[in-house]
Amino acid sequence: MANTVLIGAQWGDEGKGKVIDVLTAKADWVVRYQGGNNAGHTVEIGDQKYVLHLAPSGILRPGVKCVIGNGLVVDPIGLADELQDLEKRGIDFRGRLFVSDRAHLVIQYHKELDGAKEAKLATGKKIGTTKRGIGPAYADKADRTGLRMGDVLEADFEAMLRERIEAKNALLKVLGAAPLDADSLVAKYRTTFDYLKPFICDTVPMLNAAVRNPKADVIFEGAQGVMLDIDFGTYPFVTSSSTGAGGVATGAGIPPHRIDDVIGIVKAYTTRVGEGPFPTELLDNDGETLRKVGHEFGATTGRPRRCGWFDAVVARYSAMIGGIDRWALMKMDVLDGFETIKVCVAYECDGERVETVPASISKLSRCKPVYEEFKGWNCSTREATTFEELPKQAQKYVRWLEKLTGVPVSILSVGPKRSSTIELVI
Ligand code: GDP
Ligand code: IMO
Ligand code: MG
Repeated sequence: MANTVLIGAQWGDEGKGKVIDVLTAKADWVVRYQGGNNAGHTVEIGDQKYVLHLAPSGILRPGVKCVIGNGLVVDPIGLADELQDLEKRGIDFRGRLFVSDRAHLVIQYHKELDGAKEAKLATGKKIGTTKRGIGPAYADKADRTGLRMGDVLEADFEAMLRERIEAKNALLKVLGAAPLDADSLVAKYRTTFDYLKPFICDTVPMLNAAVRNPKADVIFEGAQGVMLDIDFGTYPFVTSSSTGAGGVATGAGIPPHRIDDVIGIVKAYTTRVGEGPFPTELLDNDGETLRKVGHEFGATTGRPRRCGWFDAVVARYSAMIGGIDRWALMKMDVLDGFETIKVCVAYECDGERVETVPASISKLSRCKPVYEEFKGWNCSTREATTFEELPKQAQKYVRWLEKLTGVPVSILSVGPKRSSTIELVI
C-alpha cells in the first residue's frame, strides 16, 4: 500500500496512460495534479482504444476513485465532452469522480488567446502549443484573475464570467482576433456546468485521508514530462505547470513526505511534439522509422512527433529532479528492427563535455549528442512475457540504460496492450 507518483521523464507521450492503466489494477485512487487537456493519455484495452485528456486513467477501472486536483486548469467543455463520450462507451464514473473546487477554469478566451499569441510569434519563437488555452489560464491563475471550479457554484458566477469575457475581448482586439459573444458563451457554459456541478467538491480533505490510510493505494498521474516543466524544462518551449513529482504536493494539496515511490516513464528512444531544442532528434531515415513503427503522432493534436535516440543526459536530469526510484521503460518493441541503436551519453558544446541539461536554451541548442552505439537485437520482443524471454541483446540494452541513468527498470513495455507488460524484480 503506497502513494505512488508516475511522471513522464522526457518530453511527454512516454506511455503514461498505459502504465497507469496497468497499475490501477491494484489502485484505490488515481489523481491528476497538473496540466489540462493538453495531455493525451492512450489506454488500449482489448479492441477498445481510449484517449483521455482530463479524466484520470483510472476512470476505466470500475471502483477506482478518480480526482481532478486543484493544480489543473480544466476546460469545462472539454471535460464534459470527454465524460459524456465515456458514458456512451459504458464507463460508469458517477460517485467516484471528484473535481477540485480549487481547479482553475480554461474558458474559450484562453484558447483564443493561446492561438492568437502563437500566430503573432515569428518562426523560431513559436512554442507549438496544443492551443488548448493552457498558458493563458495558468497566467490568469498567477495573476489572480482566474475563475475556479468552485466559483461555478456561486450565485454571481455568470456575472463574473461575463465580466471576464468583456475584459478579454479588449485583449483579443489588440491581438487582431475576433471578440467573443458574451451572451451565447454564457448560455453555452450554463448547460456545461449543469452537467459538471455534481462532480465539484473539496478534494483536499479526501486526498489527505487517502494518503494517510495505510490500506489505500494512491496513484498520482503526471501529465507531460520533466523536459516540459515550467521551471526545469527547455524554457520557454515548455508547458505552464510543474510536471515533476514536486507538482504533486501543490497540485493535489498533500504533504511531500507522503510520497513513497516515484516511477519515471521513459520510451526506449525519445520523442517531442512542438518546438524547442531536442539534441538527439533524427531528421533521417532512422527518425522516420521510429515515427512509423512507433505510430508517433500526437494523441491530442495529431501532429507528427519529432523522434530521436534515447538521451541519457535527459533521463539522469529528470531522475535527479523527480527523485525517480525506478523506470517504466516503454516501447522497447519499436526498436526491434534496428541493426544499430544509439544512445546519447553526454553532450559536447563549444569544445566541452556537458553532463547535465543546461538552463540556457541557446547553449542546449548548440549541444551535440555524444553517442555510444549498441548492436540491435533484430527480432521481435512483442511476445515476451518475462525479462528472460526477451532476446539477450534486448536484455543487455535494458541493463545498459540502467547503468547509464543510475535508476533500475521495474516495468518494461513491449506493446500498447495491458498484456504486453513485463514486471521486473528490483
Ligand atoms: P502518454 O501521453 O504518456 O500517456 O502517451 P501517449 O498515449 O500520448 O502516447 C503513447 C503511445 O504509445 C500510445 O499510442 C500508446 O498506445 C502507445 N504505447 C504505449 N506503450 C507502448 C509499447 O510498449 N509499445 C508500443 N508499440 N506502443 C506503446
Ligand atoms: P502528455 O500528457 C507532449 C507540449 C506542446 C508544446 C508545449 C506547450 O500527453 O504527455 P501547451 O499546450 O501545454 O501550452 O504546449 O508542450 N505538450 C505536450 N507534448 N505530450 C503532452 O502531454 C503535452 N502537453 C503539452 O506540444 O510543445
Ligand atoms: Mg500523450
